[in-house]
Amino acid sequence: METYTGIPEELRLAVLERIKPTAPEREKLLEIQEELASEVKAAAEKLGISGVLVKMVGSAARDTWLSGTHDIDVFISFPEETPRKDLETLGMAIAREVAKLAEHAEDRHAEHPYLNIIYKGFDVDLVPCFRVASASRIKSAVDRTPFHNDFIKPRIKGCEDEVLLLKQFMRGGGVYGSELRTQGFSGYLTELLVIHYGSFENTVNAACFWKQGEKIDIMQHTEIEHVEPLVVVDPTDPRRNVAAALSLDKFCMFIDHCRELLKSPELSFFFPAALLPLQDREILKRLESRKSAQFAIVFKTPDVVEDVLYPQLYKMEQAVAALLSEYNFSVIKTGVWSGKNETVIMLELISGTLPNVKKHIGPPVWVKVHAEKFKEKYKGADDVFGGYVENGKYVFEIRRKYPMAKGLLEDRIMSCSLGKQVHQSVNEGFELIENTGICRLKDPDFRVFLRKWM
Ligand code: CTP
Ligand code: MG
Repeated sequence: METYTGIPEELRLAVLERIKPTAPEREKLLEIQEELASEVKAAAEKLGISGVLVKMVGSAARDTWLSGTHDIDVFISFPEETPRKDLETLGMAIAREVAKLAEHAEDRHAEHPYLNIIYKGFDVDLVPCFRVASASRIKSAVDRTPFHNDFIKPRIKGCEDEVLLLKQFMRGGGVYGSELRTQGFSGYLTELLVIHYGSFENTVNAACFWKQGEKIDIMQHTEIEHVEPLVVVDPTDPRRNVAAALSLDKFCMFIDHCRELLKSPELSFFFPAALLPLQDREILKRLESRKSAQFAIVFKTPDVVEDVLYPQLYKMEQAVAALLSEYNFSVIKTGVWSGKNETVIMLELISGTLPNVKKHIGPPVWVKVHAEKFKEKYKGADDVFGGYVENGKYVFEIRRKYPMAKGLLEDRIMSCSLGKQVHQSVNEGFELIENTGICRLKDPDFRVFLRKWM
């Protein structure tokens, strides 16, 4: 029986000291939020647009933001009956007017367009939305957000530190962030966990016993069955699972992270030591000791946002692994790394070469017509080593088309199903690097990825 000691108060304090915004930091954020709100109102007035309300949402509006992060979510809400077209044009017109005061502005697209600006060093999203009567009547996914705010704010009061601890702990475990790249926990999800379990420590204790299909329904109002590993029914929308983006692996990595924390509660679970880039000689040493075959497919990083890019990269990773398996190569694992210029799909195989001979199994001998045709085709043909009967079937030993993984990949990669932008980029050219050749890839961030890889 393990003795349970819980999470020491000193540890909580040491973590909070590093992640809790200081009073001046909070004042600054508040000041910027107020400024932005009045700029939006001024812009609407200047453009003669009426019926617009401004609402601050996200962690900055709920006191659940981590020190050092500078993102502010500003929602510009329009009456529900506003035509979608107007919401887009008028909303963006207001956003662009505010952006005139910004250091940088960039058009982004979720379900409808919004503007991301850098304003006095803060990363601000200006998001037009509909002011609908309830979150179950939303016209666009972003319309839910103001309801999240209304639900969380009164309930999280006094528990903000618990949320901060949970967010940082998840960051430390590499599972924080619901973007399609990470497929982890969103900020809103951490807040709901804290509300449901009552504290950071309770959440950690509970998660140690989570099973696939774990369900949390704070309002007891779910309307549909969900299939995801974790189901947290949105208190503001009975049909939505807030944890829909969480992958099975991130779900399990979190469970593992919680169990390890309770075994030895240490700061490193919140702030893991940064990994160093792998040096050339370390790469060579590890290759030598693993004795597997490593391949890197390298191509130019497509110029699209991460939420578009990563699903395409994960899809390519799967497709390439399937191609290799189809041609009898044994895949140990696959991985994706993407930097500013280059993107790499990594593959580790049991071997990069296969024998020339391949066993080709035909129909049972008693299926007369097919069996005879099969035999006809292969008997005495070029590139056939020989044939025999085994387990009632004709078998021919024929020459393998691709005895080398490299040749297979070079020939067939374009026949894999690839997303649009990735297809385009790979089509423009890719490089296939094998084993020690990987030392050619010098990006320090890739070298950090390699350290985890091997
Ligand atoms: N949101 C959501 N689902 C997501 C992402 C965002 O419902 N997958 C909504 C939530 O209401 C969230 C708000 O959009 O609070 C702002 O999103 P974001 O800035 O990503 O999250 P925060 O909650 O602000 O958390 P963080 O501290 O990481 O910024
Ligand atoms: Mg935020």
